[in-house]
Amino acid sequence: MALNYTFSIIKPDAFNTGKAGKILAHLEAQGFVVKAARVIHMSKTQAEEFYGVHRGRPFFGELVEFMSSAPCMPFVVQKDNAVSALRDAIGATDPAEAAAGTVRKLYAESKGKNAIHASDSDENAVRESRFFFAEVDGL
Ligand code: CMP
Repeated sequence: MALNYTFSIIKPDAFNTGKAGKILAHLEAQGFVVKAARVIHMSKTQAEEFYGVHRGRPFFGELVEFMSSAPCMPFVVQKDNAVSALRDAIGATDPAEAAAGTVRKLYAESKGKNAIHASDSDENAVRESRFFFAEVDGL
């Protein structure tokens, strides 16, 4: 059975332009329930480890710089089939390609500064939730 929670981050571009509340309200209106959240300023080392799967890709340096440039908001949400439901709700990586009504269509600027991250598999949802919320039971 698919996992009933997933992991997400409101990225620095959205968090620092006052969009966190709107994005959470948008997701809550679609039935996502926030189970854990905090505001952090990622270190470069943390960003490199979190995005380790992308090490070696041409955008890796830019991604790490951006994610460690300012505060962001990691959070965990609950919903049936959470991983695919959240990926549908946030839209394509590039906001220019994101469907109408998705978080990235509404709030993102570019492929790099794309407002929100969401885990791409149940396995990564567990790993990424534990990365930022090791103290929360049941993740
Ligand atoms: P995210 O869901 O956080 O996972 C990896 C991130 O890499 C992705 O969102 C994008 O923000 C970023 N990314 C992917 N492709 C590019 C690109 N071509 N240029 C810059 N950033 C990218």
